Amino acid sequence: MNIKNYLSVNIERVNSVLDELLVEENHYPENISNAVRYSVFAGGKRIRPLLSIAASECLGINPERFIRFGAAIELIHTYTLIHDDLPCIDNDDYRRGKKTCHKVFGEALAVLAGDALQTCAFEVFSQSIEAENINPKNQLNALWEFTRAIGIDGTIGGQVVDIESEGKEMTASTLEYIHDKKTGALILFSVKLPALLEGSNEKSLKALSLFGEKIGLAFQVVDDILDITGNEKTLGKTPGKDEKSKKLTYPSLYGIEKSREIADTLYGEAVNALDMFGNNANNLKSIAELIVKRNS
Ligand code: IPE
Ligand code: IPE
Ligand code: MG
Ligand code: MG
Ligand code: MG
Repeated sequence: MNIKNYLSVNIERVNSVLDELLVEENHYPENISNAVRYSVFAGGKRIRPLLSIAASECLGINPERFIRFGAAIELIHTYTLIHDDLPCIDNDDYRRGKKTCHKVFGEALAVLAGDALQTCAFEVFSQSIEAENINPKNQLNALWEFTRAIGIDGTIGGQVVDIESEGKEMTASTLEYIHDKKTGALILFSVKLPALLEGSNEKSLKALSLFGEKIGLAFQVVDDILDITGNEKTLGKTPGKDEKSKKLTYPSLYGIEKSREIADTLYGEAVNALDMFGNNANNLKSIAELIVKRNS
């Protein structure tokens, strides 16, 4: 299967699992059910679950077993986007090519929709899934890593330093902290997920972790670049916001050209980390390429 077909088949799979996991449309109270569905199905590249699927292939495991967990990561990601767009954080009007959640449903519902997606993700993670035959100890360990990735030492910490750094002169290490945490941590977890659930050996986990760290940082460096070079139509969000908000970004500190070089170097390091998996890593490598070459 070529990579284009591979991606569309797997995105379709992820979407259908998301549809199953989420509360149905118009479920009472209708506004919250419709708000969560609106944001989850507004579009989105589904990069995080795709990373989990391709990482399973590296380990020679059937990704079907872990797809619900990958979809749960997408629920968390969508919650972070809804909250990131709120007027009190980045104040954005467009996301995934549509009006942001708070623009359509109001701020209170958008806060609650983010909260609801977060609880739904943990519902999925804590369900017993005997059919997939996952070792409960590994499941608990993955759950623990999940919470670490998105808590104060992960996404939340990154988001806090991101907003606190607006308009300030900051160091390169603060910038790396922000990007590693606000974006890198969940991407790293997405890549590690199958190895954690399977209880894979240290060597495989280490290789996937190195890949995840490098590509997670590269992802946000490219997001920063696209905020300058991208257009509203392909991005699905308003470009130029980082400069307006005086955000600390890779281009603001290093310029666009150097940021591009940094992203390319991180991509090279990420791909090299997968050597031990041979051809089983081909799809994961293609997703990494997509991450650094994307225009949306
Ligand atoms: C956007 O993430 C927010 C960042 C972490 C940079 P994505 O670029 O993965 O957004 P969607 O899911 O495709 O909309
Ligand atoms: C968002 O980073 C990271 C999270 C949502 C955790 P950005 O604020 O740069 O993402 P965009 O550009 O709004 O998608
Ligand atoms: Mg932000
Ligand atoms: Mg934002
Ligand atoms: Mg951005």
